[in-house]
Amino acid sequence: MSKSARKYLIAGNWKMNLNSAEGAELAKDVVALVGAQTDVAVCVCPTFTVLESVSKVVSGSNVQLGAQNMHFEASGAYTGEISAEMLRHLFANFVILGHSERREYFGETDAIVNKKTLAALAANLKPIVCIGETLEEREAGKVNEVIKTQLEGALVGVTAAAADALVVAYEPVWAIGTGKTATPEMAEEVHAEIRSLLAASIGAEAADKVRILYGGSMKPENADELLAQENIDGGLIGGAALKASSFAALVESAQKLSK
Ligand code: PGA
Repeated sequence: MSKSARKYLIAGNWKMNLNSAEGAELAKDVVALVGAQTDVAVCVCPTFTVLESVSKVVSGSNVQLGAQNMHFEASGAYTGEISAEMLRHLFANFVILGHSERREYFGETDAIVNKKTLAALAANLKPIVCIGETLEEREAGKVNEVIKTQLEGALVGVTAAAADALVVAYEPVWAIGTGKTATPEMAEEVHAEIRSLLAASIGAEAADKVRILYGGSMKPENADELLAQENIDGGLIGGAALKASSFAALVESAQKLSK
């Protein structure tokens, strides 16, 4: 399968920004700019309290909804947590899992990310599973080792049947929110490695269907080159997703490359 068979996905990770009114405003602008095109899959991921207002705004457009986290249990005594079914009820299609900020500040381990990934898939949510090395790990020559441990740890029990739904995001921790971006060559090298690890675990045909996003200071100025790489199938966008114009410019980059 060639790259062109995988539809680009541009996903905005709004992190802990915007209240429900502000989120609805941003979503309106995003819908106005890129909500009608169908070349590229587009998704915005607001914080939990903003999901409902944004859900209403994007409904009927080509902009989809995602969450930034979820709990792996379906319901019960888990104060402060949100289940996959609750997200589905608000028409969420995607959920970001194992973001490096969740791993660093909230103690999420590969085992937890694995439970969440399985629960998301079972609830028909598409997981965006985040992996990536720190600067220290890169400098110690451990990139492939870290990627392998995180990817295999997150995907225990995930089969080839999940390939269409599964999204992996490679986010080098040192590039997140720092303005430092991996060069297209550096990113592609890791993306190719991720695809070959996927092939070893779910088979080459299924691995070819999985979208692998790059994340870490992706912006309109560097998107063309990153998105043109053979194994880069989109982006997970933080800072540049908080402005409709820059987010839309990223979608347009992917659109150009889809043709
Ligand atoms: P950034 O964030 O684009 O601001 O670097 C990306 C992310 O954390 O998903």
